[in-house]
Amino acid sequence: MRISVIGCGYLGAVHAVSMAKLGHEVVGVDVDPVKIAALSRGEAPFFEPGLPEILSEALATGRIRFTTEIADVAGSEVHFLAVGTPQGADGAADLRYVDAAVAALLPHVGAGQLVVGKSTVPVGTAARLADDLAAAEPDATLVWNPEFLREGFAVQDTISPDRIVYGVPDGVEGERAVEVLDDVYAAALAAGTPRLVVDRATAELVKVSANAFLATKISFINAMAEIAEVTGADVTALADAIGLDARIGRRFLNAGLGFGGGCLPKDIRAFRARSIELGLPHTLDFLEDVDAVNLRRRDRLVDVATELLGGDVQGRRVAVLGLAFKPDSDDVRDSPALDIAARLRAAGAVVVAYDPEAVHTSQRVHPELTYAESAAEALGGADVVLVLTEWQEFRDLEPAAVGALVAAKAIVDGRNCLDPQAWRQAGFTYRGMGR
Ligand code: UDX
Repeated sequence: MRISVIGCGYLGAVHAVSMAKLGHEVVGVDVDPVKIAALSRGEAPFFEPGLPEILSEALATGRIRFTTEIADVAGSEVHFLAVGTPQGADGAADLRYVDAAVAALLPHVGAGQLVVGKSTVPVGTAARLADDLAAAEPDATLVWNPEFLREGFAVQDTISPDRIVYGVPDGVEGERAVEVLDDVYAAALAAGTPRLVVDRATAELVKVSANAFLATKISFINAMAEIAEVTGADVTALADAIGLDARIGRRFLNAGLGFGGGCLPKDIRAFRARSIELGLPHTLDFLEDVDAVNLRRRDRLVDVATELLGGDVQGRRVAVLGLAFKPDSDDVRDSPALDIAARLRAAGAVVVAYDPEAVHTSQRVHPELTYAESAAEALGGADVVLVLTEWQEFRDLEPAAVGALVAAKAIVDGRNCLDPQAWRQAGFTYRGMGR
């Protein structure tokens, strides 16, 4: 099929390349000429395992091209909207990129074509955009097809998703849209991926409610970590025990520094703002607590580090291991790790930070921090070690080897990813998050 993808950021670039991998003819469009030039050269603009390989492969087959010319979408049977919806000033989603992309796209949409929203938007956006599309081309259809990809697994999540959701209009128009989307996703459907056909409002809500639920699950266990901290309980063992209840499940019950990244924090704030606009001022009040619990974990880590330094961080050397919001990513958007590094530095500590992939992205936001080129360099002479992102490299650290590098054997495990016993046996003061 001939497919266009408008917006070549995280979501759009991965989607465009994955569509080409599935055999479609794809044109990827973005307003940023630097991004388009990089993608055209076969360079992924961000770290994502597997993406460089399938990008080169797709370029070599000639099935994908990237352009800043929106007119090049003409003739595509399906136009995917994959632009960002960042957090606006009041917490609500900022829809300026969606609106600009749709305004640019509409003159080029032909009869019988589909415009397919993938961006995370406030419920009701699709209905509004459908009206705009109907005014421009009455024989085209707007559908919502949310994306659930996780960074670090983005290619896998796009090609073999857990589920596919189509939000379509009623009647024959919707039935036709389903047939077209079934062709787009033929490979995943043939592999047995569940496919749900719903109305557009439900499709928009599936995405934000899934993220709200995941955020709530993480903050629930982090609230239990707060309780564990004052009672001497171990939140990791607690999570294992409650997670064995199939109704609860163990996934997303890892207590630690909480959630960051480009999705969960902004999505829960935007969802709450939208519910207030809908005349439901209290329905999602709990998401404010979810946000607050999440942010308190960062304060807690700073407090524990300060305590291990004897109450004053001024001039003390802090080794920060991990800057990305999660492992296998170079993304530092709303990263708890980078936030903590910057806070300790602002309080007067000598912070030396290392991350396997996220140093260059951190440097752009916090040029004032000192960055090391290896874990060993960051650890040299440290008065305290903070593990803030659970990269495998840090999980694999040998306590004895680390002990030989640092000035003082004190470690804070912000992701509960280390074996407390092993570190204590090597003479370290080990502090986790709620264990
Ligand atoms: C998330 C959703 O999972 C995905 O479906 C959606 O499309 C986009 O948002 P992502 O932001 O890539 O994906 O990361 P995810 O793996 O969900 O992790 C989010 C954050 O939660 C990370 O900072 C991670 O460290 C944290 N987390 C996750 C925990 O603190 N504990 C957990 O148990 C799980």
